[in-house]
Amino acid sequence: MDGYPVEIDLRDRLVVVVGGGHVALRRARALTEAAARVVIVAPRLADGFAGLPVTVRRRRYRDGDLAGAWLAHAATDDPAVNAAVAAEAERARIWCVRADDGAASTARVPAVTRHGDVTVAVTAGGDPRRSQHLRSAIAAALAGAGLPTRRHRRGGAGTGGVALVGGGPGDPGLITVLGRRLLAEADVVVADRLGPRELLDELDPDVEVVEAGKAPGAHRLTQEQINELIVARAKAGLRVVRLKGGDPFVFGRGGEEALACVRAGVPVRVVPGVTSAVAGPAYAGIPVTHRGIAQEFRVISAHVDPSAPGAAVDWAAAAGQSGTLVLLMAVGHIDAIAAELIKRGRNAATPVAVIREATLPGQQVLVTSLERVASACAEHGIRPPAVVVVGDVVGLSEELAAITPLPAAAPASANVTGARTAGSMADDAGASDDAGVDAGAGDAGQPGVAA
Ligand SMILES: C[S@@+](CC[C@H](N)C(=O)[O-])C[C@H]1O[C@@H](n2cnc3c(N)ncnc32)[C@H](O)[C@@H]1O
Repeated sequence: MDGYPVEIDLRDRLVVVVGGGHVALRRARALTEAAARVVIVAPRLADGFAGLPVTVRRRRYRDGDLAGAWLAHAATDDPAVNAAVAAEAERARIWCVRADDGAASTARVPAVTRHGDVTVAVTAGGDPRRSQHLRSAIAAALAGAGLPTRRHRRGGAGTGGVALVGGGPGDPGLITVLGRRLLAEADVVVADRLGPRELLDELDPDVEVVEAGKAPGAHRLTQEQINELIVARAKAGLRVVRLKGGDPFVFGRGGEEALACVRAGVPVRVVPGVTSAVAGPAYAGIPVTHRGIAQEFRVISAHVDPSAPGAAVDWAAAAGQSGTLVLLMAVGHIDAIAAELIKRGRNAATPVAVIREATLPGQQVLVTSLERVASACAEHGIRPPAVVVVGDVVGLSEELAAITPLPAAAPASANVTGARTAGSMADDAGASDDAGVDAGAGDAGQPGVAA
């Protein structure tokens, strides 16, 4: 028999569930989630009923219990009772689901999965296991980005919101499953120059893409303009994804954008991302911690010259710790930073790696020492974006070269690696925020140099 699938609104409508076992409990939970008024008729109840917003008649079922109901569930372990409930429902023209006999029911409950405002209900020829397995497979697909879940009928004011999505450092495979799904559902994407730019090519043509970072020939938005833009689009009922490089809350001004949304009364969520501070070294074969070598690592925003007035980094503390230092936005002042660390006591021979365009096909790795890093960067025209790693863990990169998905560091003496070279290194890949941009090495740039 072919049924007629329909979604019904049970808000504040009476539903009677006869039975107090686990099937009845599952039904009662789902019904309360649908905001139905639920009455349970059963002499004994499973533990999970405590705390559910239901009315309980703690006794056996009697004819007449369904009076006033819109829907009934017969979920006892006694087929005769279930049949009596179904018979009363039929006389009173109430839809009735029998847990023990789908074929004898006037309504059946599908296996359901929900993702946001998408609901998929599955029935499969009266075979509940089959429908559950299908439901699970569909749920897994919905959790990814493979299905076209983006809405085309837009909601009005009040239905928009902002997701601050950490896209990772650039390899499109490093965004989270959740981030990718939200990106696929977005009406507006506000993107940085750093991050998984390839994913923008997969967006539907009618998705508005706003370039917030520095792009050739494009105007760069200030942080205030970005805040205003995401708030305004969300207030207009649009789903905004603010796609950020790495993790939104690691030197990404994600906190400021979140605060702007909260203060404007706009729903906002954050989806953490894989930070370049850890992924960059990993793609160069460098673990930021390693037993017996480094028990801690410190991530520093190094865009300010240590000698500049107002420089806030405690370089003495950084130089004094035995663990790994990971410097972001350090290329512009690498000479002053290296000198400062040596002056503050860090061994001049400490190994250093500079990883440029980490996780991208043009990734380059320069392996050198603290005393040589500035001249090596100049010699090889290293430009931002780059992650600088200072510490003995850099010494592992040679042996761990085999694990790197991209060309890894050659022996230290070889200086720069990059079998797949970056093309012109003069390209400036700045971040969206003023403070977040490496201040450029000042080189005209040169092609990446293979070892
Ligand atoms: C404003 S910070 C943003 C950091 C980001 N939120 C994160 O968690 O990776 C920008 C800096 O991150 C580093 N960075 C980001 N992506 C990078 C990449 N693919 N390769 C090398 N460095 C990168 C560079 O130091 C760059 O100047």
